[in-house]
Amino acid sequence: MIRTRLTLDRDFVVGVLDRRIFGAFVEHLGRCVYTGIYEPGHPTADAQGLRGDVLALTRELGVTTVRYPGGNFLSGYDWEDGVGPAQDRPVRLDLAWHSTETNRFGTNEFIAWCRAAGVAPMLGVNLGTRGADAARRYLEYCNHPGGTALSDLRRSHGCAQPHGVRDWCLGNEMDAPWQIGQKTAGEYGRLARDTARLMRWLSPDVQLIACGSSNRELPTFGAWEDQVLEQCFDEVDYLSVHTYFENPHADTWEFLGNIDRMDLHIKEVAAIADAVAARRHSLKRILLAVDEWNIWYKARAGEHARQPGWPQAPRLIEEVYNFEDALAAGGALSVLMNNAGRVKIACLAQLVNAIGAIRTEPGGAAWRQTIFHPFALAARHARGQVLRCAVDAPARRGQLHPEMPYLVASATWDEASGRIAVFALNRHLSEEQDLRIELRGMPAAVSLHAAVELHHADMNACNTEHAPDAVAPHAHGRVQLEPDGLRARLKPGSWNVFVLGTR
Ligand code: AHR
Repeated sequence: MIRTRLTLDRDFVVGVLDRRIFGAFVEHLGRCVYTGIYEPGHPTADAQGLRGDVLALTRELGVTTVRYPGGNFLSGYDWEDGVGPAQDRPVRLDLAWHSTETNRFGTNEFIAWCRAAGVAPMLGVNLGTRGADAARRYLEYCNHPGGTALSDLRRSHGCAQPHGVRDWCLGNEMDAPWQIGQKTAGEYGRLARDTARLMRWLSPDVQLIACGSSNRELPTFGAWEDQVLEQCFDEVDYLSVHTYFENPHADTWEFLGNIDRMDLHIKEVAAIADAVAARRHSLKRILLAVDEWNIWYKARAGEHARQPGWPQAPRLIEEVYNFEDALAAGGALSVLMNNAGRVKIACLAQLVNAIGAIRTEPGGAAWRQTIFHPFALAARHARGQVLRCAVDAPARRGQLHPEMPYLVASATWDEASGRIAVFALNRHLSEEQDLRIELRGMPAAVSLHAAVELHHADMNACNTEHAPDAVAPHAHGRVQLEPDGLRARLKPGSWNVFVLGTR
């Protein structure tokens, strides 16, 4: 058994938790939209074809904001194809995923789905095959109240009220060789600047997200962020960060090193943004949108990424998540919280079927993948301010990070309810952890509102249609309140949540 200590001090605040970090992503990719969130004729579908079972799971997941319509799909998408009478919409070839896109589902259906799910929409503008003009027209269509050709077009499509979309992505992964309309940093930065200017002149309140690198391993990482911001620093609010964890050698310890690598990645991007600010003598701070994060390596290539012909809604990148993935997702959520001063938006990529937290069968069931559980628990309990976690724990080296403590933690303090939520991953894979949580500068903990453990003896255990709850949270049996905090025994390879009440 190893002994660890987590000290939390009321005065040591990382930042206010922006609830948008519990965002997700819906792309026209495989079965994310079609037979995912939208399936006319499904037994649970409403009159608009929105699947009721997926809506219910989305609410349970606690998602706050959802990015749409892509992803790689965005870079070849004409938004006009997806609005107006459904029977008049064109069928197109989607070059990003080599699929046939019927356009039966488009922006107005997505907004209706967001309202039904209780989430805020976050839209992207195509900067691959299109540019600033199409972007400002899309914004006007969505957000202008009426009295202009584009806003009246929306009204004629049955949406009298403006959609009021605040967060907008300026393209997607424009650095990537696989992206339709890939650009150099200089080309993209200039286009992002011009697009942002038009969008802001039209609607000063929009929040604009420029593309950072599509991953940290690309040779252009760092230089891309620097050169893009050099062009559009004054015009944008956020820079995106994308990260997908991989486990190529089936090595759980090394896989969990992706957590520390993600933290490093976020801090590196923030440092580059601050260097651009320093060169400009600017006090402005570019915020970060980790608008694609997840685990993705089992269903990444070959038939998972592309199928013969141009199928409609093929089974693409349908990663089946196991227990070890849930541990990694829990750790990633702590990284997002611990960077709350900088990370204001994050999107689990994606919501349904295609690397989705939720899985469905056409005409059939919907169920929770393993990664659903840490996300849902964090989204439910993390509130208020994120406290700095002073972790005292033994550490070991990993290939992705030189020092990986066995305890990965994050914590929030909610003044309004007087509750403290702690999220703790024991990533020692063979030793129990005797964890002491010490509270300083705050009222004594008098109650335990939740004590939950996510654990399975088999790292490869999965949830399936026929065994949907093989991996699921359970009540934590070995926890006790102490005068100045809490003491708990964490199983080897477990993710845990404790919610303490101070009044
Ligand atoms: O989320 C799947 C894909 O990953 C997205 O379409 C793209 O932006 C990223 O490369």
